Amino acid sequence: MTYRVDIEGLDASILMHPKVWEASGHVENFTDPMVDCKQCKARFRLDLLGDMINDKKKKKALESLKESLKDDAALLEKISKIQAGSVENENFETLLTDNEIGKLLLPELNCPQCGNKGTFTSARQFNLMFKTFIGPVEDSGAVVYLRPETAQGIFVNFLNVQSASRQKLPFGIARIGKAFRNEINTKNFLFRTREFEQMEMQFFVKPSDDKKWYDYWKTERLNWYYSLGMTKDKLRYHDHPADKLAHYAKEATDIEYQFPFGWGEIEGIHNRTDFDLSRHQEFSGKSLKYFDEESKEKFIPFIIETSAGASRSFMAFFVDAYYEEEVNGEMRSVLKFHPKLAPIKAAILPLVNKDGMPEIAREIEKDLRRNFKVFYDDKGAVGRRYRRQDEIGTPYCITVDTQTLEDKTVTVRDRDSMEQERISVNKLTEFLIIKLSQ
Ligand code: GAP
Repeated sequence: MTYRVDIEGLDASILMHPKVWEASGHVENFTDPMVDCKQCKARFRLDLLGDMINDKKKKKALESLKESLKDDAALLEKISKIQAGSVENENFETLLTDNEIGKLLLPELNCPQCGNKGTFTSARQFNLMFKTFIGPVEDSGAVVYLRPETAQGIFVNFLNVQSASRQKLPFGIARIGKAFRNEINTKNFLFRTREFEQMEMQFFVKPSDDKKWYDYWKTERLNWYYSLGMTKDKLRYHDHPADKLAHYAKEATDIEYQFPFGWGEIEGIHNRTDFDLSRHQEFSGKSLKYFDEESKEKFIPFIIETSAGASRSFMAFFVDAYYEEEVNGEMRSVLKFHPKLAPIKAAILPLVNKDGMPEIAREIEKDLRRNFKVFYDDKGAVGRRYRRQDEIGTPYCITVDTQTLEDKTVTVRDRDSMEQERISVNKLTEFLIIKLSQ
């Protein structure tokens, strides 16, 4: 966002008028199907239940279901079609969430928690928004929701931002912030949590340009992960088939990362059409039409959304950067973060704690700290200090040694190659700026 003239930044509130969530469709549609085990009271998301049951048991349940349906050719054909048509591993989810088949398949399954068979309730829809109340009276008129996505704050502020920034179509509004979802099953560390950080961008375009910009952002967003060093073959698109699109989407894809536990979505890209702005216009009674000075026309723009999870993407970068490797007969753990992502850009280490080296190192630290997050460390042997920085992903270690006292140069050690070069102290800022902009 900072580097683009066509994108503005925004912060909007977590608690918004409840009508915003009616307009967005969240009150009606933001639900997950849920089942309970009557025996142990555990609660599961129906679409994720299959992930918790091993393949052998799933196969057995399906065989038993087919056997009981041997006289129902129509249903058997429907099952075969789903099995043939779905993406790998999604067959079971599709079968379970199908109204007709799910009802019959559930009794064949064992509860992943207590192991009992046939103990599931039928599926119920469960709204994922957290509710709270405005004011002292906790009645239905005072209900507000913790935002389940940051996007709606952008839609309702679209004309405010557009007129204040004097942007013309096409342009985007981006924001980063907390989102809250009452997830039934949190799992895989930061992958699915109830409170998480999103970074979303809504790009407003002329309706006839929607396809062009959808394709543009699809490519651009994948390139963003590549540009920050993520392993290429661990990233892929998962295009949504037409019958699985969200209620607001004309076209959609997920960018997925191959985590150690399998492929998982880290970002969603949607062509949201004029759905959101039209709905907010309808529910608020305020026009959200854009006036195009060239054509002198007023219309509701289409929106291309790029919606990334900051916490999920962080986890993907973290997993991708982690290596254990042998160096001179010893193991080192290293986080090979792209320098732009490394939380600490450089460590400054006096070789020994005497001969004026700590004083010079402190001066370097003070100077670099004005522009970069740096760390001063004088504890222990220098080799150990390098290892500590490797573990937290610091790309450069700057060491003040005997030669520094003579010619004002220091060594800069590269985390990944472990090679060292000598650099003048007064060139360190320039060196880091170049490295961090690559
Ligand atoms: N505005 C569209 C939207 O919110 P989404 O696919 O529901 O779309 C976007 O969410 C991104 O937010 C996901 O790709 C994921 O990275 C992240 N996300 C969603 N639910 C999450 C959760 N429970 N925990 C962590 N991250 C989550």
